Amino acid sequence: SPDRSPQNLRPLQPLPAPYPTPPPSPGPAPLPCCSGQTSLFVSLMLFILLLRHNDLPLRLRILYQNRLSKINLKILNTTRTNIQKLQSGHVGAQFWSVYVICSAQNKDAVRLTLEQIDVVKRMCQSYPELELVNTSQGIADSKKIACLIGIEGGHSIDSSLATLRMYYDLGVRYMTLTHTCNTPWAESSSKQVHNFYPNLNGLSSFGKEVVMEMNRLGMMIDLSHTSDSTARMALQISRAPVIFSHSSAFFVCNHSRNVPDDILQSLERNNGIVMVTFYTKVLACGRKVVNVATVADHFDHIKKIAGSKSIGIGGDYDGVDQFPEGLEDVSKYPALIEELLRRGWTESELTGVLRENFLRVFKEVEKVRNDSRSMNENEDEIPQREVQNSCRLDLSNPPLQTSDTLPISFGSASVVQTLGLMFISVIYIILH
Ligand SMILES: *[C@@H]1O[C@H](CO)[C@@H](O)[C@H](O)[C@H]1NC(C)=O
Ligand SMILES: *[C@@H]1O[C@H](CO)[C@@H](O)[C@H](O)[C@H]1NC(C)=O
Ligand SMILES: *[C@@H]1O[C@H](CO)[C@@H](O)[C@H](O)[C@H]1NC(C)=O
Ligand SMILES: *[C@@H]1O[C@H](CO)[C@@H](O)[C@H](O)[C@H]1NC(C)=O
Ligand SMILES: [Zn+2]
Repeated sequence: SPDRSPQNLRPLQPLPAPYPTPPPSPGPAPLPCCSGQTSLFVSLMLFILLLRHNDLPLRLRILYQNRLSKINLKILNTTRTNIQKLQSGHVGAQFWSVYVICSAQNKDAVRLTLEQIDVVKRMCQSYPELELVNTSQGIADSKKIACLIGIEGGHSIDSSLATLRMYYDLGVRYMTLTHTCNTPWAESSSKQVHNFYPNLNGLSSFGKEVVMEMNRLGMMIDLSHTSDSTARMALQISRAPVIFSHSSAFFVCNHSRNVPDDILQSLERNNGIVMVTFYTKVLACGRKVVNVATVADHFDHIKKIAGSKSIGIGGDYDGVDQFPEGLEDVSKYPALIEELLRRGWTESELTGVLRENFLRVFKEVEKVRNDSRSMNENEDEIPQREVQNSCRLDLSNPPLQTSDTLPISFGSASVVQTLGLMFISVIYIILH
């Protein structure tokens, strides 16, 4: 049923004020380094790679109806991301989130998702600074800003493992199991935002099949936005490391989007990572001053509980509107590195955070896929009773659906449609 929460009306809000673009520079700005450690400076320059979640494709739809021909992405200033800023932030790879709002669930979510994949592909193919990749090796080899595609919100698959597989074929390499709404098979951390499937607790048995199929395919399982019980169940069954693509530490800010310590400990055993978000609401729980130090507090806590190998960066630029002082757009990442250096993080811990931890997870996910070659595609379907809605035909067994069992049945309509198609085909064959 439709829901009318403020969140769903986001695309109808007025355009944001332009963000200032940094003056053009011949190349990336030098990475600041507070302590004069030349070797660290050099190695970060060579290896820097910031992987995270970015909702620019959503902004492109809201602001420009995905008309790439109308904009210059190098200097675009109505978004927090443009190519110039990615270069000044030393960004070597970028997960572009193809996200459609929860209100599209059970409606046109699949079409909207495909359209967002289309805009990311066209964007990454039309700018020489960008390169579309779909493997960990592709990231490592790319001399450009490597573009990867992730889906934010399991409602994009419309409870269909076949749709999930087709997204993989289109290059999608992670999926967040939920956004701010429950799907028929996974519970979200945002209660009361939407009223979809309110009685779900964690993953349903179909939800477990989704997780296992993602393991088999080599698609990363992203647990940001999911409820704690969804996260615990997914961590229990996943054969591959998982990610939280944009979450922070619950201990530092007790927002429901953040990861509690027991899950951080399971995550360390799973070999997965939390990519710390810069979204102030999730970082600071309403505190007045929110700056680079606030973000660094989350880094320190996660390191204490799960080790520095469990951390990455998950900016979420262009997904939300409030960022810490000093980290206002994608060109500002180096300020965080500077703060972590000041707090005693070592060179190898930082290259882990910036690059190696994520690549390790991606490689292990690919290895699980390689080891799953003898497994067949999962042909299970979600039980029809779990996805009853007026936009879904029940094609499971049309002849059994008489008007006795279903008063006004989509099932009977589908029988008519199928027969109609057969009739046309027969005529066609006879005529030719
Ligand atoms: C944003 O870009 C437009 C067109 O490229 C330009 O006219 C405008 O001055 C820019 N605004 C800012 C704040 O950089
Ligand atoms: C992955 O990327 C390579 C190189 O661009 C391309 O040839 C291949 O078709 C892509 N595969 C998938 C499944 O997207
Ligand atoms: C967070 O902490 C505040 C103050 O201790 C408390 O009132 C609130 O219920 C907590 N929220 C959650 C989600 O635990
Ligand atoms: C997975 O298999 C492919 C194809 O054989 C190979 O190129 C790749 O290196 C393997 N990846 C891992 C992580 O084992
Ligand atoms: Zn998000």
